[in-house]
Amino acid sequence: MFQYLLHQKIKKICNEQLLDIAGVDHAFYIRFIANANALQDLYNTIYGNQKNATQDFDALLVLIIESYKLRKPVFRKKDQIKEQQSAWFTSNQITGMSLYVDRFAGSLKAMPERLNYLQELGVNFLHLMPLFESPEGESDGGYAVSDFRKIDARFGTLNEFKILQEKMQAAGMYLMIDIVLNHTSHHHEWALKAKAGDKKFQDYYYMYDSREIPDQFDATMPEIFPESSPGSFTYVPECNKWAMTVFHNYQWDLNYTNPAVFNAMLSNVFFYANLGVDILRIDAPAFIWKQLGTTCQNLPEAHTLLRLIKQCVHIATPGMAILGEAIVAPKEIMKYFGTESFTAKECDVAYNATQMALQWDALATGDTRVMLAAQHELLQKPFGTTWITYTRCHDDIGLGYDDSMIAAAGFNAYEHRKFLKEYYSGSFQNSPAKGALFSVNPKTQDARISGSLASLCGLEKALLSVPKNNNQSDSNVKDAIQNNSEIDAAIAKIILMQAQSMFLGGIPMLFYGDEVGYTNDYSYLGDPGKSYDNRWMHRPIIDWEKNALAKQKGTIENRIFSATQRLIQLRKSLAVFSDTKNITWLSPHNIHVAGFIRYNEEKKMYCLFNFNNKAAYITWFLFKEHGLAPIELVDLWSGKKHKVGSDHEYLVMEPYQFAVFELLN
Ligand code: GLC
Ligand code: GLC
Repeated sequence: MFQYLLHQKIKKICNEQLLDIAGVDHAFYIRFIANANALQDLYNTIYGNQKNATQDFDALLVLIIESYKLRKPVFRKKDQIKEQQSAWFTSNQITGMSLYVDRFAGSLKAMPERLNYLQELGVNFLHLMPLFESPEGESDGGYAVSDFRKIDARFGTLNEFKILQEKMQAAGMYLMIDIVLNHTSHHHEWALKAKAGDKKFQDYYYMYDSREIPDQFDATMPEIFPESSPGSFTYVPECNKWAMTVFHNYQWDLNYTNPAVFNAMLSNVFFYANLGVDILRIDAPAFIWKQLGTTCQNLPEAHTLLRLIKQCVHIATPGMAILGEAIVAPKEIMKYFGTESFTAKECDVAYNATQMALQWDALATGDTRVMLAAQHELLQKPFGTTWITYTRCHDDIGLGYDDSMIAAAGFNAYEHRKFLKEYYSGSFQNSPAKGALFSVNPKTQDARISGSLASLCGLEKALLSVPKNNNQSDSNVKDAIQNNSEIDAAIAKIILMQAQSMFLGGIPMLFYGDEVGYTNDYSYLGDPGKSYDNRWMHRPIIDWEKNALAKQKGTIENRIFSATQRLIQLRKSLAVFSDTKNITWLSPHNIHVAGFIRYNEEKKMYCLFNFNNKAAYITWFLFKEHGLAPIELVDLWSGKKHKVGSDHEYLVMEPYQFAVFELLN
């Protein structure tokens, strides 16, 4: 719709800001005008009834223009290139790793010298875990931010961050950091002013004089950390009020009904965009809108706010894609890509948390039916958006898929989840896994799972049978490692898990340490700032001597590293693994084997994964029911060729084997 007044207003501000809208700034101006209506509608949906709505909206327009003006030419150039590529983040050329700068390299300054290692592995996209100022001991791994613009001294300086960004860019690497949108640390300047009684800043948060409203909220809000931070409110003695704290008691929830909060946080979003961030990870977006009588998760207004952010970013800093970290029910995750007229206009990327958890489900049960039952939902993802595919991240594994999906596979949902929790926390008899339950809710018995990829796949327990000696070149130790079927099985499981997340479609995001098989680290128990949170067991401190074993043939590190490296190379070598919504799940010919076809105009690749600890038999008919009748297949992973037999004969897959079949003729 043509809105004369709005367009005139934008033109006027552009002129006041000395933009050359007929010249170099033309593309920006066009983007602005083209999106102005949507921007205003979204804004008014949330803030239209506020008494200063017009002034606040005008301030937003100015902020967009100022942020565009601050964008360095080199980033504007990148914006242009990315726009021409359209949905650049769906490419099979991108492989990510998520890491803590301090635990991985020591500091920001030391990061550049580690880029080679990452490039050798094939990683060209980094998610740097939160780096902005966050009080030691009350940091939630950096997710309790006390200053959104100051790098925490633990990591280094903003200048060192900029140098790292430049080096990464020169090396053709992409960068992701977080914006912790939902809350601040109680040491943030706004919180400090609120504590001191400043009404203006108390209105930045949800603060109440008595328990009356908090009790009403608590009645319907699920607890996130029921063990360490029960309830969703914390008493603040300094001002004698109750503040909403959905996560830890030191993380105060921001109040987005206040337009000043929105503008201030949007300004931080732009600050990050102008640091050269390629994908912005919006932390915990499901929580940003609260309403009495609801769970305060996934509310429609949360989506409106995300769309508003997306519009603003699209206008001013269009090269920065948005990842919504919504770890919620499958149907709800899907909505973060946008719905109806906003389809593919909300978050560009989301975590495929459902699939991640389902891979763990299949690995424990050896049965892939629940995974298959969930796919109809996951296939709803809109064209032009993509997933982060992963096996582990810094957080726990939540079994957040639907009961109906479990029921569709013929299991009782409660018993099934109970089994999975016992299996991975190691209490199930003979379970090879060694993890722990995270955030057990004593009221509901809900729990999530902590543990590193290697430990959950059985490597930690398998290593117990190896003589205690860290020197892997010692011949006794070498033998014990090389002739150990439990170690072999654990490694096979690790690679199987990585392989499925690699070929599924989406940006694979490795978690640092997993590429060389780090097992759980229990040293967090000795640190009072971490001991209450067992997610720290799977956040290793990198020992570069251990990682150097990746180069020594036959070591565990070498076996995992080189397989991971080969997986990345294989994915990068075939355009069919880009995410163009080009996946078809295979109907089950064997419940232990999950399979899908990835296709484009030239190729059809059959990817099969045996999640069982026994060999699996697949009838050759599987390769014929999709319109082709191949005579021969080659597994690009093992290099093995297979003649396709008659329909009643079988392809045999070894325990935990996977294959990436190309049809030869
Ligand atoms: C996200 C982060 C998690 C953090 C939480 C609160 O879920 O991934 O680590 O605890 O947000 O910020
Ligand atoms: C956020 C995430 C959830 C995680 C929690 C704590 O709620 O969405 O997955 O369990 O933070 O890590």
